Amino acid sequence: MPKIFNYKNFNKGSIVVANKISGLIKTKGKLNEKCVLGLSTGSSPIKTYSELIKMHKKEGLSFKNVVIFNLDEFYPMKPNSQFSYHKFMFNKFLKHIDIQKKNVNIPKGDISNKEIRNYCENFEKKIDNLGGIDLQLLGIGTNGHIGFNEPGSNISSMTRKVEISNHSRLVLSKDFKSIDNVPKNAITMGVKTILKAKKIILIAWGKTKSEIIRKTLKEKINPLVPASYLQNHKNTEFILDNDSSSYL
Ligand code: GLP
Repeated sequence: MPKIFNYKNFNKGSIVVANKISGLIKTKGKLNEKCVLGLSTGSSPIKTYSELIKMHKKEGLSFKNVVIFNLDEFYPMKPNSQFSYHKFMFNKFLKHIDIQKKNVNIPKGDISNKEIRNYCENFEKKIDNLGGIDLQLLGIGTNGHIGFNEPGSNISSMTRKVEISNHSRLVLSKDFKSIDNVPKNAITMGVKTILKAKKIILIAWGKTKSEIIRKTLKEKINPLVPASYLQNHKNTEFILDNDSSSYL
């Protein structure tokens, strides 16, 4: 079962997560090894990223040995679109640190339908060739999705093109102004891709996440709540605040 940590608010929790990530980067650095991070978009990790940027600017934390793989990207989506997860990652995190461009892997939303299968297979291979993801950071959708593995996703799913649920499109419509502007598809790491990570940290803040956090942790594993698959992962931590943990 995942270990559960509860903090007073998201500021405190995000500092803890940033410290765990920087600790791993430094440990790997001392061993002269690459640190392979799986990263997430959404509002939940923004404060963690800003803490890591602070550590880079004030304490000299270097990301030269870091390779990142992002969970997902809308499809179709141009990387330079204001709505893309590429833009999000560069603006909120990557352009402020010294990561090498060749070490940034975010699923591409601007490839043709025909290329997707090969592209996804190569994405998986790239992760495997580096020895797997050392630490995967996750948020959670209010319907229990992880990445864009929506309710009904299979435990053995790999990186692939998926449909975004109406529930998620409605939640996302606040960023896109209208639900009609929200893409219907995405490319996402699969449940299996996520479960292969050596360590997973799921973060959830606020009252809107309390019910899905309860279902994820307190009910039986259920494909309709994809995050519940994490119950069987050997090294997963849930970092919560008082609100998101209030139904546990
Ligand atoms: C998005 C992303 C997920 C993210 C989730 C939660 O749609 N595809 O990877 O974890 O929704 O977002 P938030 O952190 O804003 O609640």
